[in-house]
Amino acid sequence: MKNIGLLGLGTVGSGIIEILEIRKEEIKNLTGHDIRIKKVLVRDLNKKRDIILEPDLLTTNYDEILSDEEIDIIVEVTGDLEMSYKYISDALTRRKHVVTANKAVVSKYFEKLLSLAADNNVAFLYEASVGGGIPVLKPLKEALFLNEITEVQGILNGTCNYILTRMIDEGRNYEDVLRNAQELGYAEVDPTADIEGHDTLRKLRILATLAFQGQIREEDILLNGISTITSYDIDYIKNMNSTVKLIGEAKIVEDGFTAVVQPTIIKNSNYFANVNMAYNSVAFKGNNVGELKFYGAGAGKLPTANAVLSDVLDIIMGTYRKGNPLGQRVLKNLNSKIRGKYYLRVSDCNAEIIRTLKRIAEITMSVGSITTIITEEVQLTGLGRLIDDLNIGNDRYFFARILNY
Ligand SMILES: NC(=O)c1ccc[n+]([C@@H]2O[C@H](COP(=O)([O-])OP(=O)(O)OC[C@H]3O[C@@H](n4cnc5c(N)ncnc54)[C@H](OP(=O)(O)O)[C@@H]3O)[C@@H](O)[C@H]2O)c1
Repeated sequence: MKNIGLLGLGTVGSGIIEILEIRKEEIKNLTGHDIRIKKVLVRDLNKKRDIILEPDLLTTNYDEILSDEEIDIIVEVTGDLEMSYKYISDALTRRKHVVTANKAVVSKYFEKLLSLAADNNVAFLYEASVGGGIPVLKPLKEALFLNEITEVQGILNGTCNYILTRMIDEGRNYEDVLRNAQELGYAEVDPTADIEGHDTLRKLRILATLAFQGQIREEDILLNGISTITSYDIDYIKNMNSTVKLIGEAKIVEDGFTAVVQPTIIKNSNYFANVNMAYNSVAFKGNNVGELKFYGAGAGKLPTANAVLSDVLDIIMGTYRKGNPLGQRVLKNLNSKIRGKYYLRVSDCNAEIIRTLKRIAEITMSVGSITTIITEEVQLTGLGRLIDDLNIGNDRYFFARILNY
């Protein structure tokens, strides 16, 4: 018998219970063990839940789980950041294995948690934290043995991808689609982390730190989200026979790296153009293996629970990679080298702004007070500075990298 302490009984937590129940026999045949959820930590014992459990399974007291010697695997799916850091580090210190789906905690405390796990000779696994149901971290960790990984990129946030797909396909405006995404449960009530790109940034931080074997911190990544995109931008992009995606991308460049999350305009023929709705895709390049691409459900109850339980099975069977998977490479931040052509739309333009924009434009188009430019090849950080200097309020512009224009 293997006993699990489950922290959180929301979307993912209930998916975990559901799969464990349905696949009980198969899991026992594979591992030789019954898996039992021995305790479940929640915030509110009186909350009405879709899932029916023995009442004494639920607790709001983490110490009950931590001090239970029979529980040797903790599955953390609360979504809380600082509390979950405490839950996870306390568990690792007590030599309990931990699996989490919580990208916020993995991203913020990646190095600390992995070294704590290694020091205590237990597993800390987090497959579901990047790409939801897509198994990508395990193949990436395996590829690291034989390859130098030079690039990782992906569509890593289902909410943004859902919004952009419906705007492109149906010509609907941003607010409408966002509201619809919230009703369907794709977007949070407070969607900031998704639409401003923070969620994509966290996943890129995890991927790049593993892939490049050197620390790429959250603050090392340039960030530009999709919250100011309008139907005007969408029409312009469609006229370019293109679509737009929020892409996170990190590359090894000379003796350092570049890392950026930005809306990216891609031709309809590009691989990522066909990753639509709430789907995600991650690609990485290794010097032997070439480019590998992974595609699938980036979120959702069962896909995410499936990824969490794959980690649990690896722990039970002892098939996870032992030791700390992070490397010690020291890489320079070379984000100042990111260059490209950009689409930039500014609303309520005055003559001074138009004059300045024209200096870096290959194409300029003005419709009423809206001015749009396609820039010549420019430095991304320089473009950001120029926008700041012009004092264009955040809600008055949208810009996106243009690939292969
Ligand atoms: N949903 C997805 O598709 C998905 C995909 C990939 C990764 N993830 C990650 O998986 C984690 C869980 O997501 P979710 O969608 O399942 O969240 P959720 O539906 O909001 O559920 C969260 C659960 O955690 C409990 N909880 C929250 N804070 C707590 C605290 N401080 N102490 C004890 N219990 C606490 C809540 O208790 P109550 O029920 O009593 O309120 C609830 O049962 C998050 O980190 C998320 O980023 C989710």
